[in-house]
Amino acid sequence: MAKIRSFLVLISLACFLTLSICDDDENHYGGNTGNLFPSFYSRSCPKAEEIVRSVVAQAVARETRMAASLMRLHFHDCFVQGCDGSLLLDSSGSIVTEKSSNPNSRSARGFEVVDQIKAALENECPGIVSCADALTLAARDSSVLTGGPSWMVPLGRRDSTSASLSGSNNNIPAPNNTFNTILSRFNRQGLDVTDMVALSGSHTIGFSRCTSFRQRLYNQSGNGAPDTTLEQSYAANLRQRCPRSGGDQNLSELDINSAGRFDNSYFKNLIENMGLLNSDEVLFSSNEESRELVKEYAEDQEEFFEQFAESMIKMGNISPLTGSSGEIRKNCRKINS
Ligand code: HEM
Ligand SMILES: *[C@@H]1O[C@H](CO)[C@@H](O)[C@H](O)[C@H]1NC(C)=O
Ligand SMILES: *[C@@H]1O[C@H](CO)[C@@H](O)[C@H](O)[C@H]1NC(C)=O
Ligand SMILES: *[C@@H]1O[C@H](CO)[C@@H](O)[C@H](O)[C@H]1NC(C)=O
Repeated sequence: MAKIRSFLVLISLACFLTLSICDDDENHYGGNTGNLFPSFYSRSCPKAEEIVRSVVAQAVARETRMAASLMRLHFHDCFVQGCDGSLLLDSSGSIVTEKSSNPNSRSARGFEVVDQIKAALENECPGIVSCADALTLAARDSSVLTGGPSWMVPLGRRDSTSASLSGSNNNIPAPNNTFNTILSRFNRQGLDVTDMVALSGSHTIGFSRCTSFRQRLYNQSGNGAPDTTLEQSYAANLRQRCPRSGGDQNLSELDINSAGRFDNSYFKNLIENMGLLNSDEVLFSSNEESRELVKEYAEDQEEFFEQFAESMIKMGNISPLTGSSGEIRKNCRKINS
């Protein structure tokens, strides 16, 4: 672990100093990312990271699942107009909130904790730390607090003054998308198949509603038959909490072994045909390259952790607003003025 961490520190430092190795041909993040660096607030708000960590730690101590919920918010923010806090905006004026999109509606949660983080930051250094950065830090802290890897978070994102409901519906993969559809949605963000497999590993924590996997249990392909590749006794258990109709909001663990612990058991589940979502299982069943990665991460947790950290940094760097673009919102739910 220590070795991995110092490696990541080195990478971050190198990014900060030269900008070049972070911007090579393999890493098109979909926009300008060279301006982000971990020490962005070291003068303007030296306690920023500590404040975020402390609020997230309290929230996760109250409810372990909150770590998962915050991690997912960061993902759903970054896939829509980049990591710009657009997901956090409520509807008002010309803004139609992304919270009402198919992937988010009755599902995305943790916004009150983001408000608490932001309030604590405003209290310490008003108008300095963006909501987008606060959420990126919260996602890293959520990994650490549940036993996952740590990494240096490049900072300096600013907040959007707009949201995109259609972007939220069209960019975020759905649980019944094919492998190729999901991969093309990652590719669109400058992320590759390795990022896709590693980042999906965050389903090692958290829960899914019945509505997100019911299709597999009863009518996978529209002919009234279940997904026969799903392990049978696992499927039978799931049906008890997720009937043909009703119980839409009933929850099941994304990782049946340890939904509160960030580890590599998610990948072991996939090999045993016990991935909860269709989008989980296709990582093992639909593509050779992806299957090999699943096997590697199932065998070697360190390798998963290392790749997860790298891919989280990459996802966090998608099209940030920097310089004088956007603003530093006072309240993550609404634009200033
Ligand atoms: C690969 C494509 C992905 C698909 C199709 C997908 C889909 C889903 C779905 C359907 C749920 C359950 C939502 C519900 O029923 O309320 C979920 C939960 C979750 N997702 Fe994903 N996801 C994907 C990738 C990711 C990525 C890249 C991350 C973060 C890096 C992530 C983090 C999470 C977390 C932590 C939860 C649990 C949230 C909670 O318990 O509140 N997912 N995902
Ligand atoms: C995927 O799920 C959505 C929402 O439940 C549904 O409308 C759509 O028909 C499903 N697509 C496929 C290919 O099964
Ligand atoms: C299965 O889904 C198809 C459409 O996707 C629908 O026409 C059919 O009635 C469903 N069958 C059952 C048994 O629910
Ligand atoms: C939801 O799950 C609970 C058990 O966790 C179960 O008692 C209840 O019947 C489920 N709801 C439906 C509609 O099946």
